[in-house]
Amino acid sequence: MTLKFAVPVALLGTGMYVPERVVTNDELTKMVETSDEWIIERTGIKERHIASEGEVTSQFAAKAGMEALRAAGITPEELDMIIVATNSPDMLFPGVGPLVQGMIKATKAGACDVQAGCTGCVYALVLASAGIGSGLWKKVLVIGAEALSRLVDWTDRNTCVLFGDGAGAVVLGVSEGKNAVLAAELHADGEKGDYIAFPGGLAARPANHASVDAGDHFVKMKGNEVFKYVNKVIPSFVKDVCEQAGLDISDIDAWIFHQANLRIIEGILRRLNVSEEKAIVNLQKYGNTSAASVFLALHEGFADGRISRGDKVMLVSFGAGMTYGAIILEI
Ligand code: UT7
Repeated sequence: MTLKFAVPVALLGTGMYVPERVVTNDELTKMVETSDEWIIERTGIKERHIASEGEVTSQFAAKAGMEALRAAGITPEELDMIIVATNSPDMLFPGVGPLVQGMIKATKAGACDVQAGCTGCVYALVLASAGIGSGLWKKVLVIGAEALSRLVDWTDRNTCVLFGDGAGAVVLGVSEGKNAVLAAELHADGEKGDYIAFPGGLAARPANHASVDAGDHFVKMKGNEVFKYVNKVIPSFVKDVCEQAGLDISDIDAWIFHQANLRIIEGILRRLNVSEEKAIVNLQKYGNTSAASVFLALHEGFADGRISRGDKVMLVSFGAGMTYGAIILEI
């Protein structure tokens, strides 16, 4: 069943920003026992951009957001809403959304954060689409932004080689023609919450000497469990979402999966019988940028011509929660 919005939604523009500092796999070998070969073979990642001292998530978000607004040809004052997906906010509150709203002077916009692990960007895009589709908002800036390097234990080779920092942004607005949102679905599996967690510093384990000594203020990930889980649930989930839109897998022109691991992306494509050329992959340059990742790939796909107007693009993400979600856009 195709979605029926009261108001049709359009994608008006995209943007991205990554911090200047690049950290190669070779540099990581000076910090932990790892190798360029291991990281490339197991993940596909060659380098990542990492926040320098003083740089924070809201700055990346604002820069990506402004680029998307310029591409859309609209000013910050025209925005009704800003939604930022992040797992590494500057602080718990105020959220990155309100910080960005103040920085870019989006004087008429509401603003908030969405935290749904790496799937946050897809959650935020779906919420923004529903807000426009219902007639509540006319123009929404959706941003996925991370400085996850600040939450990673740089002595833990299981996690520190994976993540990168940056932000991607999308502007949605009322369409003068067709509705761009063909299908959307969000899932959560909270019983698997221990697969990826950041346990310390809040109500369950407030910050104290013991929590710092225990390393509670770092990302913990059961990488192999996540790997198996994603491979199990995502292929059939993706097929279901296509069916909802009345589409065949072969109707999708471009696939954007969460850029966590090249082996995961290749495995899903194989199961779906989709050629690798149809997938936008940029994790080799940026690593896993969590809630920013699919927006970075969407923006680069547009910028280098791999995605064109009229294409049907499927964005699929998965992450802490566990959560997963997908949205099909006819751009
Ligand atoms: O963004 C949120 C979603 N997250 C994901 O999608 C992550 C999904 N998981 C993965 O991408 C993969 O599981 C990882 C890349 C995290 C790990 O790859 P793996 O093939 O599942 O490796 P593993 O965890 O089973 O570890 C294999 C071996 C272990 O050594 P032993 O026990 O076999 O001796 C690890 O200790 O590789 C070792 N290892 C490393 N070796 C060199 C783990 N990390 C490293 C490293 N360098 N950085």
